[in-house]
Amino acid sequence: MEDRIVAPANICGDNENEYSLRPKRLNEYIGQEKVKEELRIFIKAAKKRNEALDHVLLYGPPGLGKTTLANIIAIEMGGNLKVTSGPAIERAGDLAAILTSLNDNDVLFIDEIHRLNRNVEEILYPAMEDYSLDIVIGKGAAAKSIRLDLAKFTLIGATTRVGLLTSPLRDRFGVLCAMEFYKEEELQEIIVRSASILGVDIDDEAASEIGKRSRGTPRIANRLLKRVRDYSDVEGDGAINLKTAKSALKLLGVDGEGFDNIDNKILLAVVDNFNGGPVGIETLSYFIGEELDTIQDVYEPYLLQKGFIVRTPRGRIATKLAYKHLNISVEKSEDNGKEQCSLFDDK
Ligand SMILES: Nc1ncnc2c1ncn2[C@@H]1O[C@H](COP(=O)(O)OP(=O)(O)OP(=O)(O)O)[C@@H](O)[C@H]1O
Ligand SMILES: [Mg+2]
Repeated sequence: MEDRIVAPANICGDNENEYSLRPKRLNEYIGQEKVKEELRIFIKAAKKRNEALDHVLLYGPPGLGKTTLANIIAIEMGGNLKVTSGPAIERAGDLAAILTSLNDNDVLFIDEIHRLNRNVEEILYPAMEDYSLDIVIGKGAAAKSIRLDLAKFTLIGATTRVGLLTSPLRDRFGVLCAMEFYKEEELQEIIVRSASILGVDIDDEAASEIGKRSRGTPRIANRLLKRVRDYSDVEGDGAINLKTAKSALKLLGVDGEGFDNIDNKILLAVVDNFNGGPVGIETLSYFIGEELDTIQDVYEPYLLQKGFIVRTPRGRIATKLAYKHLNISVEKSEDNGKEQCSLFDDK
């Protein structure tokens, strides 16, 4: 999965020009209008009152711009950004050291916050609620707890799995932002912006085509743009037009929907091997030979969002769109009973 050109996770090569491609201010950040609007108001209000911004939880699939947004919030608040991640903080003392190093208005960004260990997480509760840190000195009967004041900081937590957060932690965030897949027009805009930063000549049709195939994800959009640029440099005059974009994407194995061979394998398995479903996610992952977590976090959200499969209590079901995409007629596939037909009728 690491080598997939349409993997939403960060892969080798993504980091080249990463810094320059990242929007630095809220008004440069394309899309996520609801999140942006809320943040704009809350940041303005906090600055007006001379307070720290309330703690923010950003959740959604990988590659949608959570880290970018954390950077932007720190810049807009005029503070420094400290970046860490759930699995990187092993002991409560590590987190205590980070917290005591913060100044007013600083932003502490904890990526994959759902993976914090419980002892560490408990340190966060008073830190988030009262900007204080309870530390225990000594052992046994002589042990005493002292409370330290912390700077007025903002915690930004990011997670792809909001359901795994404990409720005491989730409840302490004042601002919850659900990151959504980007619209095609927004991805087109991101591609045009990135192309201009990279000094690549691209026409609107080509930017729109790459946007359409980027799985609603800016990280994939930027990656496809770089690879299409390579192709155009070698096979053309360097400028990207619809023709070079299409040829390059074909070579990269990205189809018209932005699916690669694994997405198509999943769809084909549901449609062909499991008669359109319902099929349990575990069975599907075993059948395809991909990890369950990867299917759940990476492949499925986009297939669901695009309406190619639906989730039911009994498993995943392929929709008409999946049959059409695979060029298999619904009638031809074996009769799956009424559930599937009624699903289609509802659509
Ligand atoms: N709204 C946006 N406008 C322009 N570019 C964006 C936007 N959001 C993200 N990007 C670009 O997409 C890339 C990935 O973004 P980012 O690293 O912030 O995603 P992420 O949600 O933190 O991913 P992960 O879950 O893997 O940590 C960055 O290189 C950034 O340049
Ligand atoms: Mg990130």
